[in-house]
Amino acid sequence: MKQYMKYVKPYALYFLLAPVLMLVEVVGEVVMPKLLANIINIGIPAGDTGYIVRMGLGMAGMALIMMLGGVGGGFFSARASVSFAAALRKDAFAKVQEFSFANIDKFSTGSLVTRLTNDITQLQNIINMGLKMAFRAPGMLIGALIMAVAMNPSLATVIGVVIPILVIALVLVMRVAFPRFNAMQKKLDRLNTSVQENLTNIRVVKSFVREKEEMEKFAEANEDLRAGSIAAFKVVIMTMPIMTLAMNATTLAVVWFAGRQILVGDMAVGDLTAFTTYIVQILISLMMTAMVILNSSRAIASAKRISEILNTKVDLSDETATKKDAVVTKGKVEFKNVCFKYYKDKENYVLDHISFTANPGEIVGIIGGTGSGKTSMVQLIPRLYDCDAGEVLVDGINVKDYSLKHLREGVGMVLQKNVLFSGTIMDNLKWGDEDATLEAVQAAAESAQAHNFVSSFTKGYETELGQGGVNVSGGQKQRLCIARALLKKPKILILDDSTSAVDTATERRIREAFEGELKDTTKIIIAQRISSVKDANRILVIDEGQIVGEGTHEELYKTCEAYREICISQEEKEASA
Ligand SMILES: Nc1ncnc2c1ncn2[C@@H]1O[C@H](COP(=O)(O)OP(=O)(O)O)[C@@H](O)[C@H]1O
Ligand SMILES: [Mg+2]
Repeated sequence: MKQYMKYVKPYALYFLLAPVLMLVEVVGEVVMPKLLANIINIGIPAGDTGYIVRMGLGMAGMALIMMLGGVGGGFFSARASVSFAAALRKDAFAKVQEFSFANIDKFSTGSLVTRLTNDITQLQNIINMGLKMAFRAPGMLIGALIMAVAMNPSLATVIGVVIPILVIALVLVMRVAFPRFNAMQKKLDRLNTSVQENLTNIRVVKSFVREKEEMEKFAEANEDLRAGSIAAFKVVIMTMPIMTLAMNATTLAVVWFAGRQILVGDMAVGDLTAFTTYIVQILISLMMTAMVILNSSRAIASAKRISEILNTKVDLSDETATKKDAVVTKGKVEFKNVCFKYYKDKENYVLDHISFTANPGEIVGIIGGTGSGKTSMVQLIPRLYDCDAGEVLVDGINVKDYSLKHLREGVGMVLQKNVLFSGTIMDNLKWGDEDATLEAVQAAAESAQAHNFVSSFTKGYETELGQGGVNVSGGQKQRLCIARALLKKPKILILDDSTSAVDTATERRIREAFEGELKDTTKIIIAQRISSVKDANRILVIDEGQIVGEGTHEELYKTCEAYREICISQEEKEASA
């Protein structure tokens, strides 16, 4: 919890003013009944109108001050809690940006969304509530207790019996409620994951006519959340009736005992009104405390979940890099006995002792069945994941020794699941190079065979792309993504199945453009089609995480059984097409 102090400090003044101002209200609440008692006990029997008016004015003035205190307290507690939440959210978001792919895999995106929104809101609410109650509830409790005891000590013993019973009841409620709130947030995660996944992939859902199944999946998560929430809140709503019962029983007891005292003349009638008010105040302050504590149990569950984000060790950083100044100058890539797996507790490696070299200017093709490990392999080059054994070297330097910034600046990668962002085409392409001129952007687009279709749009490069680039075709999107990577002028260019939706003729033109524009760049091209890699200097054939063949097309066709099979199956397909 210490780490949260950081977000309190800048707003310390608000955090202080809020409860202090609320205390003003408390003083008023405690003094008011006494003034009223005075009117009844002294003013009315004596028929002293002046006294009654004075007391009345005192009460009115008190009410005004109380109002100012209450409004001020509310104002500052709102400011404190909202500022706290905004600062925390900013840091948590920044932390998520630092996360490695492996970190993100571990939290689901849905859960990250819940944590950044709902969980932080829980904290904000409890701070707002807590600041208002922090001094007020105990202040009112103590004040009312003192007044009640001073007024009538023997009658005050009634309270002594009620309080311990209530405290025990509250502790019991808390202990049951806490784990239930924790479980509830987890169910909310599941719901958010389901919504998030559905919305991002709504097109796939619709094209497979899976709406019904998706609805069922959602309904299940929703029902689960409902049941979980009821289980948690059931406990909470129990407290209110218990409190009310206690309040009524106590009032009854007080009236009973006080009535006898009044009859024998030991107590003034006015004191009874004041005394019952104090009793009610004591119980209300207990009730407020109970509410704060109950909501705290929910907020603590949320705070833990946010801490998990803040305290996650980003498992891929360049803190221990020894050559932070080094930049990628040539683009030579070497894998030396590289082994890798996603789940460290699993036995089988996804990549098993991979060794190969790609020299500057070369085209290295990678071919292999789906799930054979092609994507995993190239992701190790810009360190999207770290290998578990062996070494990945770029220009003879271990990738772990570069600063991440320098390494990734040197590597242009078009991911298999590439996305564009909402904004203009220009905005998107400039991810590759913020300062690129229009000519440079056009040149990159031309190499990627994107210039023609972009120019055909009425707004050209200023065309707005929808979220994820919905308003361009799959093949156009791929070409824009290639152009974006080209603008980086990378020393190493990796295309992970990036031309799968582009027709073969266009793809050939892209390859030809590479030969001219990217003569010195190391090009690593993963492809499904043999034609995409046929001209490569070297082709690697991957199967189940191992290199089973390496050589030129002609060599492999002669020597590598697996390669020949792929060729033959594709030739057959073409012949039948
Ligand atoms: N993020 C991930 N987390 C866990 N396993 C993964 C992840 N990505 C891929 N895999 C697994 O690693 C293996 C290799 O996947 P991948 O490299 O994507 O294959 P390819 O690109 O050749 O189709 C597959 O068995 C796949 O299920
Ligand atoms: Mg892949």
